[in-house]
Amino acid sequence: MSVKPIFFALDGKSLNEFEFELKKLKNKIYGVKVGLEMFVSEGPNVINRLKDQGWKVFLDLKLHDIPNTVKEATKSAGEIGADYLTIHISSSKEALYEASSNKKEDLKLLGVSSALTSKAIDEETSKKVQLEFELAKESNLDGIICPPSEIIKSINIFDLIVSPGIRLKDDLSNDQKNITTPEKAIADGASYIVMGRSIRNNLDYVINELNL
Ligand code: C5P
Repeated sequence: MSVKPIFFALDGKSLNEFEFELKKLKNKIYGVKVGLEMFVSEGPNVINRLKDQGWKVFLDLKLHDIPNTVKEATKSAGEIGADYLTIHISSSKEALYEASSNKKEDLKLLGVSSALTSKAIDEETSKKVQLEFELAKESNLDGIICPPSEIIKSINIFDLIVSPGIRLKDDLSNDQKNITTPEKAIADGASYIVMGRSIRNNLDYVINELNL
């Protein structure tokens, strides 16, 4: 079976909480996502521990600061071994450019728009998101975090599209409003999807039956 294009969101304070899932998911999915909660609680060493287990690591810090701070934090993220890192597109073109020009070459920088998947997107917001993605492209970012409703509109701008807001057909949406299924996100053009609660609630299904 091929490796599924999924990042498992480790939304918790301790890596140990995920030991069972990580063992079962090894070689079945592409990577894991470390967010602020885990990074702040466990410290940067969590990246090493995951890399030692052979995972691709997506560090979801959503950087948003002055250009010099964003640039230096991006350099540090590459040095501690992150493979992917998020940065707010609204940080300014200069900050994005400084980060993309000074990062470790194999670190992929992903731009985050102002639209989170916990909110529905109206037409006006959608237009704003597309402009943000164009700015991310002009600033040499490698890819974007893209809400499900915006994937089709964004495939002309970026090849690397990572989409959260993923739910299996019968799952609860919880706090997410802009959602789609794994199959539809990939069919629309997402390179990778991010799944947290849907994996924890349907582990065997995701490993054995989900066909992507
Ligand atoms: O459990 P669930 O699959 O909803 O988790 C989604 C993950 O993706 C969380 O870690 C959340 O922080 C992240 N995320 C998101 N929407 C964005 C960006 C990141 O849900 N726009």
